[in-house]
Amino acid sequence: MTFYVFSQLILNWYHLNGRKNLPWQKNKTLYKVWISEIMLQQTQVKTVIPYFKKFILKFPNLNYLNNGNLNDILYLWSGLGYYKRAKNIYETAKIIKTKFSGKFPKNILDLVKLPGIGKSTAGAILSFTLNYFHSILDGNIKRILIRYYGIIGCEHNTKTEKKLWNLIETITPIHNTGSFNQGIIDIGALICKPKLPKCNICPLNITCIAHKEKEWIKYSLKKNQKVKVIKDYWFIIIRFENKIWMQKNTTKNIWNNLFCFPNFEKKNQSIEWLKTNKINIKKYKKLNSINHDFSHFKIKAHSILIELFFKQNFFDIKDKGVWYNLEKPQKIGLPKLVEKILKLLI
Ligand code: ADE
Ligand code: SF4
Repeated sequence: MTFYVFSQLILNWYHLNGRKNLPWQKNKTLYKVWISEIMLQQTQVKTVIPYFKKFILKFPNLNYLNNGNLNDILYLWSGLGYYKRAKNIYETAKIIKTKFSGKFPKNILDLVKLPGIGKSTAGAILSFTLNYFHSILDGNIKRILIRYYGIIGCEHNTKTEKKLWNLIETITPIHNTGSFNQGIIDIGALICKPKLPKCNICPLNITCIAHKEKEWIKYSLKKNQKVKVIKDYWFIIIRFENKIWMQKNTTKNIWNNLFCFPNFEKKNQSIEWLKTNKINIKKYKKLNSINHDFSHFKIKAHSILIELFFKQNFFDIKDKGVWYNLEKPQKIGLPKLVEKILKLLI
């Protein structure tokens, strides 16, 4: 009974107040909802919107996507972060072409085998697009469940994960699953916020335990209190006229396949590199260092700007990199940190 009340409250609220005009909610296709859900995995709605629009303009369906290459996708992903997602999209498109004759699969068991698509993302794609009966569970939804039911001792672990999946699967209604899922996402994002939940406008407030006890922190997912380590990175910015030397990162680090200034984790390595490539470092400028956050660590970026007065032979070796033209930028994927550093040059 109580589960029925919960889902009805969410559905009524969604009907009146939920978001129905986000770009991925208009003319829905499995393809478009898939792209939006991948983008939304680690990024907020307002950041995703312009990226999603640009992506769909260039790649409106799977056929277009299959004709593009990874660089095109990474270019559209530049600045969005978590670039593994772009690679997963590229690979998923290829798998769908070969294994599913180019048709987006509609079976959850097929979906969860695709790169970057977990149980929740698969449930989101199928419930939003086809109204299939599948639950979703992300951090926002976990917070609502923990608060509403007053569940204590929830840490990030598989036990909590199982408990909350069981709960949401019991609550999710068979009918209007898509609206329910979108409704609970919206309440998590707009009302039941981590710090200052707006209980006064929440449809769940009459029966919510956290609200009754005024204990919003007690009823939350306990964060893993790991302090992020700070890594130093050294960037060598070589400028010739209005062009900057960029190389494709091919190591499996954070910027795999993206273009970047030559970068090093040790100052010594950067000096070695300059020597090996016979780059004259008599005249250089140290730019302000920049801090940049990743999910598991932070980077302190030290940038050294070197102006060349003639192009050295090394930099003409074609597939080693590109001269990135600041006035007419090439369409290549750049990490957000590189974009931040480039702003220092203007
Ligand atoms: N986060 C994940 N999926 C979402 C969606 N469909 N709408 C808003 N935020 C989301
Ligand atoms: Fe969250 Fe308050 Fe709503 Fe409870 S009543 S679900 S704490 S916003």
